[in-house]
Amino acid sequence: MVVSSAPGKLILLGEHAVVFGQPAIALAISLRLRCSASPSARHTVNGQPLSDKFHPYIHAAIGRFWDGEPLSLDISSDLPSGSGLGSSAAVTVAVLGAIDRMRSDSTESSVAERAFEVESIVQGRASPVDTSTCTHGRGIFIDRSRGDRFLWEIRRDTRKWFIHHCEAPEMGMVVGYTGVNAHTGPLVAKVKRFVDRSSFGRELIEEIGQIAVEGRGRLVADDRVGLGRLMNRNQKLLAVLGVSSPELEKLIDASLPHSYGAKLTGAGGGGSMIALTDEPQKVCGAITRRGGTPFVVRTGVEGLKAEEV
Ligand code: MEV
Repeated sequence: MVVSSAPGKLILLGEHAVVFGQPAIALAISLRLRCSASPSARHTVNGQPLSDKFHPYIHAAIGRFWDGEPLSLDISSDLPSGSGLGSSAAVTVAVLGAIDRMRSDSTESSVAERAFEVESIVQGRASPVDTSTCTHGRGIFIDRSRGDRFLWEIRRDTRKWFIHHCEAPEMGMVVGYTGVNAHTGPLVAKVKRFVDRSSFGRELIEEIGQIAVEGRGRLVADDRVGLGRLMNRNQKLLAVLGVSSPELEKLIDASLPHSYGAKLTGAGGGGSMIALTDEPQKVCGAITRRGGTPFVVRTGVEGLKAEEV
């Protein structure tokens, strides 16, 4: 038997715009997903037959990248699914990590590339931000060209993403889960329709990209005030793009009095928000009072790794 684990992620700045090839910053978080794999008479997931309907990411990963004997896979996760915290990417990465270990060894870049392929098969239009963060862990900065701390490059149609390691200081970060599960594919498609139809939409996407570039500088300088301001501006632009929701706005408003900044994270439409704060307990209380589920998370944790059996 082999066991691998991968972290969830939060997008600090740049979701949605990154699908168009704009820069973004994402951090791995201390909520993990574990996958154990052992030979079996047929493919199963937590004792149930592997199914496209119930396990789309695992089904695509096994169908596309495993031609060995049937496997019994057991998945356990700290990540609520559909929460915007990278549960689909984490399951894909952890399964690929486990099957690679059953065969031989693998590299981070090969897992990240295949995980992005799986996500694209299941989700449709996507960027490699989630899958690369869950693979590499710690922090990543996606840019339009190759720079310092370059990790790997991923291409799709005319788009190119240059993935870099991003050093991030330990920061107080609270995640607030709305309890509303939103599907990423339709939200990404909605933004594409907006951007295809209007130059204003394209300007919003460009500005989000610029915010991510500026945010990287603030992060390196550990300038929380500046970073918080950028998060708030990013949230306004995401709301104009139509991917925020009343539940998200409620949790963001409740967090702001105790935070440097707050915004949705991931695809939006529900899912989760994040708040950068020195007062995590106050933010957790405010989120709970507004009906959300708070998690205080550590950022910058390890990526895909083998676990002791
Ligand atoms: C989802 O976590 C982030 C999006 O930008 C989609 C993607 O990058 O694939 C909304």
